[in-house]
Amino acid sequence: MDEKNYPRDGKVFRRDSARAIILQEGKVLLIHSKKYDYYKFPGGGIEAGEDPVQALCREVREETGYEVQQSTIREFGCVPRRQRDDMNEQGVFAQDNYYYFCEIMDQKQADRKLDDYEREEGFTPVWMEPFAASQHNRYCDASREGLDARMVRREAKVLDLVDLEIRKLERQTRQRNTLEALGHPEYFAMLEFVRQQLGEEGTEYSRSGKIEIAYSRYDHTKRVLAWALRLYQASERKEEIRFDELMIATIFHDVGRRRAEELHVSHAQAGIPITKEYLTGMGYAADKVEYICSLVAQHSDKYRMKKEVLDRGLLMLMEADLLDDMGAQGIVMDCMITESRNPNARFEDCLDHITRYTLRQQEEDNPMVSPEGIAFWNEKTKLTQEFVQALRRDLA
Ligand SMILES: [Fe+2]
Ligand SMILES: [Fe+2]
Repeated sequence: MDEKNYPRDGKVFRRDSARAIILQEGKVLLIHSKKYDYYKFPGGGIEAGEDPVQALCREVREETGYEVQQSTIREFGCVPRRQRDDMNEQGVFAQDNYYYFCEIMDQKQADRKLDDYEREEGFTPVWMEPFAASQHNRYCDASREGLDARMVRREAKVLDLVDLEIRKLERQTRQRNTLEALGHPEYFAMLEFVRQQLGEEGTEYSRSGKIEIAYSRYDHTKRVLAWALRLYQASERKEEIRFDELMIATIFHDVGRRRAEELHVSHAQAGIPITKEYLTGMGYAADKVEYICSLVAQHSDKYRMKKEVLDRGLLMLMEADLLDDMGAQGIVMDCMITESRNPNARFEDCLDHITRYTLRQQEEDNPMVSPEGIAFWNEKTKLTQEFVQALRRDLA
């Protein structure tokens, strides 16, 4: 936050600060100012002889009565602030605000120790959802005498970043839960191998002509794995499925994407030697490797799903592969594609695209065979239909 309203070589007055981001069950511990009605992170100025972490712990203790667990402190970032010094027209006020994630000790809140101005403002610790607090700060009347409007804005901005961080953590936890449900540590190593084979951020995708959106084949693989697991859990014919083989085939099903371009063969074909080499190297039995490779080799032949009685494992892999990119995700993808095709796209253009692709495919082209696959597909179709209806009404 640089106001650029100070002399370039003005005398610098520094007052750095340290602030705590303490999260519990999606809420963050904040200080509410009763007088001005805004929220701020616990924390404050770093005093002479203190390092940022010492200041952090002291400020949290004074403002909230809680004790910070030293071992949990993790740096989040810094907001530098530069502006003309209110006390000296020719000077520069410089403040680096350091933000730290940390946790508090599991003990009773001690008495707080507020400064005179903090008591006068009516500082009170509260647990809030970061997004709600940031919105609140944005609508706070910042013109009031004695209120530092820039500080209120800064805290709103950092609250938004914390909100994003929480979403990221939630996503990671969700994915970890899926992997843990699989129960095999070797799957982590396999996924990592596949990630390296695919390159982290693929931007390939063409759903309707030559349109490119950021589409990670590795993320697709993880989602298909989650679908395969859901299908398996819902299946009443588990005994017909070789679970370990299905999971491994799902992890490797698109591993040949990159090699296929060099070799000018299909990605399913290109995936066979890669899968075979990896599994054989890991000491898997030959018949197991062969079966897994046969699933990888045939997974693209989706036209066969309704024409023949397929191996149950192959069918489940195909269904999992097709359930990805449909329903809620299909809707978002259609919007991204609409935007990539035309940066001036309007809501109606998105509606057209969703109607023409996700909705049509789901209604007319149901490729599912197993009862659990059909149930998931119908659920996604219902969502898409309701979404399209609601959007049509909204845009009427
Ligand atoms: Fe594929
Ligand atoms: Fe796939």
